[in-house]
Amino acid sequence: MKKILVIGIGPGDPEQITVQAIRALRAVDVFFVIEKRDETADLVRLRLELCERYATTRPHRFVTIADPPRDRTASGYEDAVDDWHQRRAAAFRDAIDAELGDGETGAFLAWGDPGLYDSTLRILEQVAGAGDGFEYEVIPGVTSVQALAAAHRIPLNRIGGAVHVTTGRKLATGWPADTDTVVVMLDGAGVFADLPDDDLDIYWGAYVGTADELLVQGPVRDVADEIVRRRAEARARKGWIMDTYLLRRRGTSAPSETE
Ligand SMILES: C[S@@+](CC[C@H](N)C(=O)[O-])C[C@H]1O[C@@H](n2cnc3c(N)ncnc32)[C@H](O)[C@@H]1O
Repeated sequence: MKKILVIGIGPGDPEQITVQAIRALRAVDVFFVIEKRDETADLVRLRLELCERYATTRPHRFVTIADPPRDRTASGYEDAVDDWHQRRAAAFRDAIDAELGDGETGAFLAWGDPGLYDSTLRILEQVAGAGDGFEYEVIPGVTSVQALAAAHRIPLNRIGGAVHVTTGRKLATGWPADTDTVVVMLDGAGVFADLPDDDLDIYWGAYVGTADELLVQGPVRDVADEIVRRRAEARARKGWIMDTYLLRRRGTSAPSETE
């Protein structure tokens, strides 16, 4: 039987990785590296550095899987995405078939935690569902959301309150119901700067946990321009940016539950 580990490697700080993940990295024979068109050299290097630092106890090899191109011109959006997912699953299956021997352990490294805005588990479920002979295990990781909250020294939720995690694209369609706290990921457009609300505080972080970490906090109306400027400068300097932010409505009364 072949074994696959999906290992959460945290959001960029090589020390924000669990003991379980380090133990898993040390058990790997083959690291599968997905070559994404939009993945920068910096992120590839950060992954390799983690392997060099922790996967020190047995010989291992790296196998690159080219991410199939997505047809963004197709008229039927859902069909195009479905087709793309199937081609990705086929690429994973071919690589596992060809490159991983019986009794060997392969790994996919997932940035942060594999359960949050990451497609690896959905693809593997599809491959495993096709009856291919391997078992797989998921090793959780520290998410960029947790790293952001820790960097700002804030709890994610108000007492007994809900937290809504979403994307920039979704937030642009309106503030979610029944929450005073929204965490926003995958926001290439800086949606926070265009929100109509005047009562929001923002806790923003880019490259959290890395040497380039940037943090800004304050009322959105006071700091939005500064964040827009700093993220544009950072993106121009490094060629890429990964940022996450928490928005909290000011002055909402706390519910009665305690923690
Ligand atoms: C494809 S999602 C992956 C999320 C990841 N699985 C996690 O658990 O954090 C990529 C998004 O995660 C966030 N992100 C990941 N690493 C980050 C970091 N070091 N600092 C700030 N945001 C980060 C950004 O919002 C980015 O657009």
